[in-house]
Amino acid sequence: MTSESVQIDTPQSAASAQQFTQLFSATRRGARLARLLAVEQLAAWGWPRDGARTDAAALVVAELAANAAVHGRLEGRGFRLGLALLPTGRLRIEVTDPRADRDLPAVPREAGEGGRGLIIVEALALDWGVDPCPPSGKTVWAEVRAVTTGARRQALSV
Ligand SMILES: Nc1ncnc2c1ncn2[C@@H]1O[C@H](COP(=O)(O)OP(=O)(O)OP(=O)(O)O)[C@@H](O)[C@H]1O
Ligand SMILES: [Mg+2]
Repeated sequence: MTSESVQIDTPQSAASAQQFTQLFSATRRGARLARLLAVEQLAAWGWPRDGARTDAAALVVAELAANAAVHGRLEGRGFRLGLALLPTGRLRIEVTDPRADRDLPAVPREAGEGGRGLIIVEALALDWGVDPCPPSGKTVWAEVRAVTTGARRQALSV
């Protein structure tokens, strides 16, 4: 991919549907962009920029996006970030990369053995996992607590 990000799905109703999907290049810069745009999208949905839940969601996006760019990378392919507000009061974060090998550690390794990204995800997420994404690739997903409607209204009125 030559461009850093390619918008593939931003329907007019995105704000009301509270879903967001975007494709990024599989680079460190693409991963940083994914984190930045996730925070922008959450702010557009009324999440306070400096809130603990926003920070947690941004950190999970950053770690999953970095993993997609480093470990899930395939030449010429990007990764996709998806955000969705669920009726369960959770934010679902999905990062889809083109590598079908789904052998991520189910239980993160001890700190100090190298990886810390999935330890952070395990600590911040209510749940997370890996699903196949046919015809090739996989989706690493995590769900975190969403900002409540009341707090969103308050943030938007500031
Ligand atoms: N998207 C992915 N595709 C394939 N393998 C992955 C993916 N994400 C994680 N892994 C595997 O799981 C391991 C643990 O990931 P984790 O993010 O915890 O650590 P890390 O990426 O190696 O290091 P750090 O996140 O501290 O920079 C990785 O080293 C890699 O082997
Ligand atoms: Mg990592």
